[in-house]
Amino acid sequence: MTENTLRQPVEIQFKTELDALLGHDETLKLLKPDHWLLSPQAVVLYLIGGKTHDGTLISAKYIGQRRLIETAVATLATDRALLLLGVPGTAKSWVSEHIAAAVSGNSQQLIQCKRSLK
Ligand SMILES: Nc1ncnc2c1ncn2[C@@H]1O[C@H](COP(=O)(O)OP(=O)(O)OP(=O)(O)O)[C@@H](O)[C@H]1O
Ligand SMILES: [Mg+2]
Repeated sequence: MTENTLRQPVEIQFKTELDALLGHDETLKLLKPDHWLLSPQAVVLYLIGGKTHDGTLISAKYIGQRRLIETAVATLATDRALLLLGVPGTAKSWVSEHIAAAVSGNSQQLIQCKRSLK
């Protein structure tokens, strides 16, 4: 981390939680889609928060409807693109970063664009 870094990527900040979720998947023998780090169930648990099988506390990243996250994760698990649509500041980028970290272990492959209002 350099002096210009605002914050660590979430896969580093939440490494303890992601490691606990890996163990959770192993214990419960949950299946993962090809090339996924975690099972879809563990990705939802990472986003919504709760406890792993061994009792590790997982903090809530997204405060809102569980169904929305389940739908997003199911869309990706079935190999489709996911479009998050909503008014500014409703956690679209935030959720994307966390989903990328939980699915691939890397949230840093990011293209960010904004539509000009001019
Ligand atoms: N439902 C929510 N649960 C948890 N955090 C939230 C929620 N809504 C907003 N936040 C917080 O608000 C911050 C801003 O959200 P974010 O930048 O992801 O919005 P956005 O939908 O991508 O906006 P924009 O359309 O401007 O790109 C997030 O970093 C997060 O901390
Ligand atoms: Mg955004």
